[in-house]
Amino acid sequence: MDDAQRAVLAEEGRKAAFFCANCHGERGVSRYGEVPNLAGQHPAYILSQIEAFLTGTRRDDFMQGLMKVLSERDKLAIALYYASSPPPQMKADAGAGAGLYEKHCALCHQPDAGGAETFPRLAGQQAEYLRISLRRYLTQSGERFSAPMTAAVTQLGEKNINAVVNYLAGAHAAPSGGSAAANGR
Ligand code: HEC
Ligand code: HEC
Repeated sequence: MDDAQRAVLAEEGRKAAFFCANCHGERGVSRYGEVPNLAGQHPAYILSQIEAFLTGTRRDDFMQGLMKVLSERDKLAIALYYASSPPPQMKADAGAGAGLYEKHCALCHQPDAGGAETFPRLAGQQAEYLRISLRRYLTQSGERFSAPMTAAVTQLGEKNINAVVNYLAGAHAAPSGGSAAANGR
């Protein structure tokens, strides 16, 4: 795929993502703390999670149902659209989380937390979503499974989750303090 083809598909994805925008935001910067930003996320990772919802290895009733309506072309187009959208930046004041991140997470998610391929971008992600996800991996509560992530959060320790989340989270606040429940979930 050359740049021109990518641009055409990304534009198609922008249109196909009109419904997604209700929760994930117009340009992939989420409106709700528990809904992940998709802006700047890697296409391979987005596609891997769409597949995980479809096969049921990742559980979320709403998302699992919704993914069934997407064609193969929609999936790729939406993934390319979000990847091309600028993500929020991390906060400037790093605090204790920076060292913890470097020690336990940077190897896979990259030193700048930008991720790569199927390792998700974490930089600028919603704080609440990060916290929920890390607790799920730690306690293996059943919504999603990743042995490397369970190992990493176990090594990090539950008491250090907040410090790492504060380091990674975006400088923006989730507007309105609303919840996706208000949006028909
Ligand atoms: C009603 C709100 C809502 C809508 C509409 C919605 N999503 Fe989601 N989406 C969520 C929530 C909540 C999660 C997090 C689920 C979890 O906790 O595992 C999520 C997770 C995801 C993820 C995983 C992201 C990650 O970082 O792991 C992808 C990819 C995704 N959605 C794509 C889409 C696409 C594509 C659409 C439109 C076709 C869409 N979503 C529409 C609420 C929504
Ligand atoms: C050995 C590689 C590896 C290490 C080390 C690692 N991760 Fe991950 N991480 C992954 C992979 C692979 C995924 C995708 C798992 C899945 O599909 O559920 C992931 C997913 C995540 C997610 C979910 C993101 C999203 O958008 O849903 C978060 C949050 C996360 N990692 C944070 C961390 C933090 C914080 C650390 C350090 C304490 C860490 N990871 C260490 C490989 C790793």
